[in-house]
Amino acid sequence: MEELVALCKRRGFIFQTNEIYGGLQGLFDYGPLGVELKNNLKQAWWRSMVYERDDIEGLDAAILTNPEVLKQSGHEETFTDPLVDCRSCNSRWRADHLEKSACPSCGSKDLTEPRPFNLMFKTNVGPIDDGTSFAYLRPETAQQTFTNFKNVVDSTSKNLPFGIAQIGKAFRNEVTPRNFIFRVREMEQMELEFFVKPGTDEEWHQFWVKNRLSWWSKQGVSEEKLDLYDVPNKELAHYSKSTIDIMYKFPHGLEELEGVANRTDFDLKAHSNASGENLSIFDDKTNQHITPYVIEPSSGVDRAVMALLVDAYNEEEITSASGKTETRVLLKLDPSISPVKVAVLPLSRNEKLTPLAKSVFDTLRKSNLIGGHVQYDDAQSIGRRYRRQDEIGTPLCVTVDFDSLDDNAVTIRERDTMEQTRVSLETLESDLALKLKS
Ligand code: GAP
Repeated sequence: MEELVALCKRRGFIFQTNEIYGGLQGLFDYGPLGVELKNNLKQAWWRSMVYERDDIEGLDAAILTNPEVLKQSGHEETFTDPLVDCRSCNSRWRADHLEKSACPSCGSKDLTEPRPFNLMFKTNVGPIDDGTSFAYLRPETAQQTFTNFKNVVDSTSKNLPFGIAQIGKAFRNEVTPRNFIFRVREMEQMELEFFVKPGTDEEWHQFWVKNRLSWWSKQGVSEEKLDLYDVPNKELAHYSKSTIDIMYKFPHGLEELEGVANRTDFDLKAHSNASGENLSIFDDKTNQHITPYVIEPSSGVDRAVMALLVDAYNEEEITSASGKTETRVLLKLDPSISPVKVAVLPLSRNEKLTPLAKSVFDTLRKSNLIGGHVQYDDAQSIGRRYRRQDEIGTPLCVTVDFDSLDDNAVTIRERDTMEQTRVSLETLESDLALKLKS
C-alpha cells in the first residue's frame, strides 16, 4: 500500500488536499492521471446504466440540500456513528472501530460512553447567519433523486420498472477518516435508484447484485477478491429491508465496495407524506397509483479507484538488455480504465524523427477510434520511457524509429507482455483500436 500511495503522488494520480498548508484530514485531490482514471470509471458506469439500458434515465442534482429533506429521510435522527473520547489523551474514536475497547492512540481503557455523532456537514445559505438559514451538504446522492422522482416521471413518461442514475459528490464528517481514499469526508458516489412494483423487489434485488458483480469484473477487478455480505438485520440502515454488500479484499481487510439495498417505499412515502406531493406512479396494467419500492446499487468512486489501483499494481523481475536484473512496476489496468491509452515515443530527439513522431501523435490524439488520452514523450532513454508508461498503466506504446522514415511503419509495444509488433502507419489507428479492445 505504501508503494502504491507513493506512486500515486509521484506520477500525479492522487494528492493530499491543501498539502502545502499541512493538508485537511480525510480529503484528497485527483491529479492529471487520477482525473482521467476516475472519469473513465464514471463513464463506464454511466454507459452501462444509462446508454446500454432503456429503463434508466440520468440526473445531476444539487449538493446543498433543504434540511427538511434530510429530516424526513431520517438522516437528522439516525445518520450517526457512535463516538467515544479517550479521557487520558483526549482523542476521539468511533466506538465500533476500537479493538479490545482501548484507545488506539495511547492504549488507555478510560473511555467515555459512546454517544451518537451526526455525520452530516451543515453550511449557512444566504447573507444572514442566524442559525435558521442552513442547508446540509448531501450525505448521499439518493435523496435528491427521490425529491426529483415526480419531475423525472412527468418529463419522461416512464413506466415501472425504471431507474434514475446519478454520479456526484457526497459529504460525511467521518470520525476517523483513514486508509488513504477508502474512508474520506468528501467523496463521489455512483448511485442508481431503481423503482419497481412492490412484490417484485426481491427478484430485482438479486438481479442488481448479480449485475453489479459482473460489472466490477468487467472493469478489471479480480473475481477472487470480491465477496458478498448479507448485512444482518441489526446492522441495516434505517431505510433498508435487506442489503447485500459487494466486498473487496483491500490491503487493510475485506470491506464494502458497493451496497445493494432494498429501500422499500420508505423514502418516497416519507417525502410524499411530508411535502404533500403525490410521489406515486400510475400503473396502466392495474389502473392503480403505486408507490414503488426502490432497489439501490450504491458505490463510492474513490473506493472503486482504490480497488482498481490495488488490483492493477504489479512488480516483476526482468532482465534488461545489458543483463542487469531490475524490478518493473506496472499497473495492469483494463485499457478502458487506463488514464493514458497510447504513448507515442520517438526513438530519439532528432530533426527528422521528431516531425514524423509529432504527426503520428497528432493523428492519434484526435482519433475517435482510440477515444482517449494520448501522450507524447521524448525525454530520456527509450527503456526508461517504457518503464514510465508501464508504471501509469499505459497499455500501448508506439515507437517511431529511423526505419520508420523509410518503411512508413512503427512498432507497437504492449505493456503486459512487452511484445513488439511492426505495423504500417496506414493501419496504425485501427491496429491500436483493436488491441485496446482485445
Ligand atoms: N445511498 C446509500 C448509501 O449512501 P452507503 O453504504 O452509506 O449507502 C454507499 O454508501 C457507498 O459509498 C459505499 O459502498 C462506499 O463505496 C461509499 N462510501 C460511503 N462512505 C464513504 C466514505 N466515507 N469514503 C469513501 N467512500 C464512501
